[in-house]
Amino acid sequence: MGRALVAGNWKLNGSRTGNVALVRSIAAGLARDRTVEVVVCPPFVYLPDLAVTLDGTGIALGAQSVSAEASGAFTGEVSAGMLRDVGCRYAIVGHSERRALYGETDALVARKFAAAQSAGLQPILCVGETLAERNQGATEQVVRRQVEAVMNHVSVDDFATAVIAYEPVWAIGTGQTATPEQAQDVHAFIRGLVAARSGRIAAELRILYGGSVKGSNARALFRMPDIDGGLVGGASLDAADFLLICSAASGSC
Ligand code: 13P
Repeated sequence: MGRALVAGNWKLNGSRTGNVALVRSIAAGLARDRTVEVVVCPPFVYLPDLAVTLDGTGIALGAQSVSAEASGAFTGEVSAGMLRDVGCRYAIVGHSERRALYGETDALVARKFAAAQSAGLQPILCVGETLAERNQGATEQVVRRQVEAVMNHVSVDDFATAVIAYEPVWAIGTGQTATPEQAQDVHAFIRGLVAARSGRIAAELRILYGGSVKGSNARALFRMPDIDGGLVGGASLDAADFLLICSAASGSC
């Protein structure tokens, strides 16, 4: 297993001055000898500014989405190569908000993953079921479909630098976190899906939990054997809470 990873997904939040204050507070509060890798994912327009602010802090930069296309007549899109060009290391693909609100299909998510990976970005592939799907007992079926759509499009070796985030839709922004046991069950299932193609890649793969992660619940989640960190929404906008989450992940892998 690599280092534990905590990524902050800022979603549609931030401002030039507020961003600088937030990342400076996070950088100042992180321990020097870090066993946790920390990433922030601001809106696209702030990426170049933040690349400068984060220089030398050890905090990495990620995008919240990425185009499946490399260049051309695709108005409004931002390519993986452009994200690399401005200093991104990671790109979130297939966030449930993109799937639900902007119609991103499994097939499109797979193409975005491939575009990110081949441009040298590390994709953070988000998967997770809705409450209705969980109540129908369809969690594993949904997660299998979402993970296999990508694994069937790229090679399992392309997961060597990728990250998967299990984000149950019912836990996102609701304050209702999955219990550590509920999350662990799905994380183990996801690792098994990858292990069916490559035991080596599965053993190294970082699988993050996302959905109402806070300083107060992070430690119990990160203690589970297949939870290798977190993808954090709301709490990533609060430096003190985000730092608590980072310290909970420190040394948990
Ligand atoms: P919250 O932490 O606000 O529930 O959001 C989780 C999420 O969607 C991260 O990508």
